[in-house]
Amino acid sequence: MSTATTTFIFIFLLIIFPIATASLPILGLDSFLSQQSRLDPQASNDSFLSLSSSLKKSLSVQSFTTVSSLISSLLSLKISVPVTVKLVGSFSADSQSLLSSFVNAAVFSDKFHVIGSNPHHLAVEHSLHLDVSHSPIATQISEAIRAEISGSTSSLRSSLHSVPYSVVDRIIKQDFEKEKPVQGIYIYLLNLSPQSKPYAYSYGSGEASPAFTKCLGTIWTGRDRYLWIDLAAGPVNYGPALSGEGVLPRGEFHPLAALHGRPKSHKTLLADLASLIWSAYQVLLVPSLRIPVPFESSLIVQFIHVHSSQSKDSIGLDWKSIERTFMDEVNDAGLLLGDQSLRFKTYDISFSECPICSFAISRSTNSYTSRFLFENYTLIVSEYLDSKRLHQILSDSADEFRRLAEIPEEDFGIILPVYVFDLDYNRLLLLDRYHQSVAFRDMVIAVRTTSTQTVSDYSCNGRHVITQTRTLERPLVGSILQSMWGVSPTHLLWNRRDNRTLVDYTWSIGQTPFGPFSELSSLSFVQKDAARRNILLTSLNYTITSALDVLDSIASHGGERNLLKQNRHVEFVQRWNLLKYKLDKAISSLSHLDFDMALYFLRSSEHDLYAIHSLVYHASQELEASLVCFKDPPFPWASVSMAGVAFFAFLYVYAKRDKIFRNKRKQF
Ligand SMILES: *[C@@H]1O[C@H](CO)[C@@H](O)[C@H](O)[C@H]1NC(C)=O
Ligand SMILES: *[C@@H]1O[C@H](CO)[C@@H](O)[C@H](O)[C@H]1NC(C)=O
Ligand SMILES: *[C@@H]1O[C@H](CO)[C@@H](O)[C@H](O)[C@H]1NC(C)=O
Ligand SMILES: *[C@@H]1O[C@H](CO)[C@@H](O)[C@H](O)[C@H]1NC(C)=O
Repeated sequence: MSTATTTFIFIFLLIIFPIATASLPILGLDSFLSQQSRLDPQASNDSFLSLSSSLKKSLSVQSFTTVSSLISSLLSLKISVPVTVKLVGSFSADSQSLLSSFVNAAVFSDKFHVIGSNPHHLAVEHSLHLDVSHSPIATQISEAIRAEISGSTSSLRSSLHSVPYSVVDRIIKQDFEKEKPVQGIYIYLLNLSPQSKPYAYSYGSGEASPAFTKCLGTIWTGRDRYLWIDLAAGPVNYGPALSGEGVLPRGEFHPLAALHGRPKSHKTLLADLASLIWSAYQVLLVPSLRIPVPFESSLIVQFIHVHSSQSKDSIGLDWKSIERTFMDEVNDAGLLLGDQSLRFKTYDISFSECPICSFAISRSTNSYTSRFLFENYTLIVSEYLDSKRLHQILSDSADEFRRLAEIPEEDFGIILPVYVFDLDYNRLLLLDRYHQSVAFRDMVIAVRTTSTQTVSDYSCNGRHVITQTRTLERPLVGSILQSMWGVSPTHLLWNRRDNRTLVDYTWSIGQTPFGPFSELSSLSFVQKDAARRNILLTSLNYTITSALDVLDSIASHGGERNLLKQNRHVEFVQRWNLLKYKLDKAISSLSHLDFDMALYFLRSSEHDLYAIHSLVYHASQELEASLVCFKDPPFPWASVSMAGVAFFAFLYVYAKRDKIFRNKRKQF
């Protein structure tokens, strides 16, 4: 919008409208809407049309006086995130209140962030609502760990005794189940008495060996909405090995190591724990969106396997297991919204019959030189694939690939092609030097060669992490989550203050399909909630933007009383009140983690928004028509300037008509 228009709107707002007042609750609307949500769960019909006359009457009360108050009410929608912290073990009696006050002092409300779009924030805010309580399961957990440590031999490779996470998780999960039905997310902080040996948790099966690095951790995020942190375990460290970006849990100053190192005062310990809770909140509970994701009811993942004709090794590339990872959650009602469906399809392309494939690979191959010290300094030239160039070629030749793989046309929904280049090449070839798989907005690209492993640039507990380069399942699950649902990797978040993406590996261990330290491809509540929340937030932000557009256009016509006469004005007020009511309900459903209900209210509000857009559009057209017919004696300065203003406003709406009406084209 031009500065002139903004100034113009602003002046009008100043002249025409005085102060704002708050909205009133409307009796009976709640039960009406919940009945509607049962009758018409997809909100395909406009609920306004079946409102009773008494409800319409109560909706006609104009609870606002200015358009600017409407704008600010739209921009202050805030989702509250209920978090219960359970203190397990030796915490003094005042811990509860101290911890609450520390967290509340640190936490302010903030907007949801998006890494891959500019502006990097949404119009919706979030805020943490903390509840702290004690839980009496400490002895039980301590005993279980003690039994595990004494009953197993410790590894020679590590100074930490590895304890399977399930030893503790079993007990905590049980405690969590007892709390059901739960509201919000539970964070268990375990402050247990020391064990005979230092220990940390292992997450996969099997022992560590020179070829398999096992990264031990001290945390776990559940499939249900809880996570636990064992402060007595460790200290562990994991992160970039030599150089590279990333905050890593290392050293006694990291809050995960709060209990290690020099003894601390009780207050310092609680302050550390508050910062741990704050970090978990930002990274796990209100994570940044990777990209904005629109709602589509049909989601299709197309695996396109480009392989050399003789070998087709499915070890490490088991489509069924990737599909199962997602479908298990879908069947558990944990990943999709409302009537969404998710399908997986596999296609094959033989490398030898695909000239474009070899072209794509050879065009994107790059090399880099690094210096290694063996007996003397030796220069080593390694190759890698440039993912951006590969993406470009694949986008340009999508039709060719579709023809070769015999992929049928799909008309609806989001289709995510996952290209996997399975090359008969005996040297290491990764994407952009480091990645087995890279996620783009519109596709996922992965590559493997016959080379089986490489030393990565990451280390955990002093050992380099070995990447199994032929195993693509976990990297693919992570990439699909990013492209299809906009779920950010566990180590990335948008940092508003520095205006850039922050890399922090603290939570990148345990149950997460992202990152070099995790061995599991299963999803925790963090990814499942983010997948659904991201879609709802994108839609909600869209609705807000569209509502702001229509308010701008009302303001540019001199306010709603000037533009909308009698019946139209009554309907505008009713529609607006209903729209705002539904948005508030969507926000409160999101706060209660009731994603399907939030979807219903968002879909239902589309009808009201559209009705407001058409009211304003028709009214502004009539206003134009009446001004065109109006003729005055010579030099009517007042009318000329008025007409000029109106003409300008008309031009504005005309120029924006596409934007105003794109709402109609938006398919929910
Ligand atoms: C929507 O309205 C139409 C016509 O009024 C009706 O036939 C249809 O059953 C309604 N759909 C739902 C889901 O209520
Ligand atoms: C450096 O070592 C490599 C083998 O490790 C050897 O082939 C090469 O000749 C050596 N170069 C020099 C300059 O000594
Ligand atoms: C953040 O960075 C982007 C690009 O680097 C720039 O366009 C934008 O103005 C910056 N925003 C702030 C608030 O500094
Ligand atoms: C979210 O809404 C704000 C305010 O209308 C807008 O500036 C921003 O571009 C929107 N972001 C996305 C990703 O739609």
